Amino acid sequence: MTKILIPIETASGERRVSATPTAVKKLKGLGCEVFVESSAGELSGFNDTLYKESGGEIVSESNLNIWENADVVFCVQTPSESNLGKLKKGAILLGLLNPYANKKLQNTIISNKISALSMELLPRISRAQSSDVLSSQANIAGYKAVLLAASELDRYFPMLMTAAGTVQPAKVVVLGGGVAGLQAVATAKRLGAIVFVSDIRPAVKEQVESLGARFIELPEIDEKPGESGGYAKAVTPEFLSKQKSTLTKYLSDADVAVCTAQVLGKKAPVLIDSYMIEKMRSGAVVIDLAVSQGGNCEGTKTNETIISNGVKLIGAGELPSSVPYDASTLYAKNLTSLITPFIKDGVINLDIEDELISGCLLSNEGVILQDKVFEK
Ligand code: NAI
Repeated sequence: MTKILIPIETASGERRVSATPTAVKKLKGLGCEVFVESSAGELSGFNDTLYKESGGEIVSESNLNIWENADVVFCVQTPSESNLGKLKKGAILLGLLNPYANKKLQNTIISNKISALSMELLPRISRAQSSDVLSSQANIAGYKAVLLAASELDRYFPMLMTAAGTVQPAKVVVLGGGVAGLQAVATAKRLGAIVFVSDIRPAVKEQVESLGARFIELPEIDEKPGESGGYAKAVTPEFLSKQKSTLTKYLSDADVAVCTAQVLGKKAPVLIDSYMIEKMRSGAVVIDLAVSQGGNCEGTKTNETIISNGVKLIGAGELPSSVPYDASTLYAKNLTSLITPFIKDGVINLDIEDELISGCLLSNEGVILQDKVFEK
């Protein structure tokens, strides 16, 4: 029987867990043995009793060789090097491994002969939708970004007509209308704001308009921004400069900017520079969800609030972890959906020819299969 380990997440600030009791029950039902590190689900609302009731075996690092014995490890973020070092040859590691240009991860995988599946690399084809971790977590980030902005803003979001006068609705500019951006639009609209969106993929225009937001038209230049596999490609400096000049006008009138623009595997584009911040009103709030990829807004730092010219710049890199119950539930469902077709009679046998597996399999028993990801 395949032994699956659900460890405690050790990354700072991480509150999610890689499998919920429901996911454990599903894996047990397929015949696998599931070991849950004691209190692994505590911060996301799942205690040890719930896991036990679902058929999981509660283990603690001190009394069992839980890493040495595991055939498969589900994780949210990459476990510590010392724990990965204990894994047996060919053990499967499945999670958000943050692989781009991550030489440290590459070396650890090679030296410990791990088969690593990086959920960020899952191809975005229809069959992959139920396993799409980036979407399930980005959705949460987009929603929470707006709530954070609303609580930090010195104004109401909705228009209010009161006996003491009329309050104008907040103006929100969303940069990047992908999964997080569209959820930010929907949430800001529900709160009553007027919403504008900038994106470089033309398909986004119709999507934002259907949510009742306004699309900021793209700069007119000969070289149009590209996309592949649903993702945007990096734009030229000429395009970016024109885009920024358009955005300056919208931002100078905005109360909130929610930054979600990303380019897969690359640094995020800087769409708000210090000149543009100077043009924003004092009291405005910028939530930068792209901060871990370098940020869409100049000067944002992960998990910090910086006041620049009276504007609150909030580097919000870990918002999915701030909704840990739902984030973990969706995440665990994503992982089990990916792995379930490869479980037979309690044994996991990955088909490395399968499009989903080959898309996110970084290494097979330590042999690197996706050099380019590490070079980016
Ligand atoms: P992402 O997180 O890589 O990027 C977020 C957004 O930033 C994208 O919409 C991108 O076009 C935009 N962006 C990049 N550079 C920009 C710039 N200079 N200015 C303004 N915006 C910029 O992308 P995400 O949200 O992960 O997904 C993008 C798209 O992928 C989705 O909207 C959808 O069309 C597609 N998708 C397909 C799925 C499937 O078929 N299974 C699942 C999920 C997404």
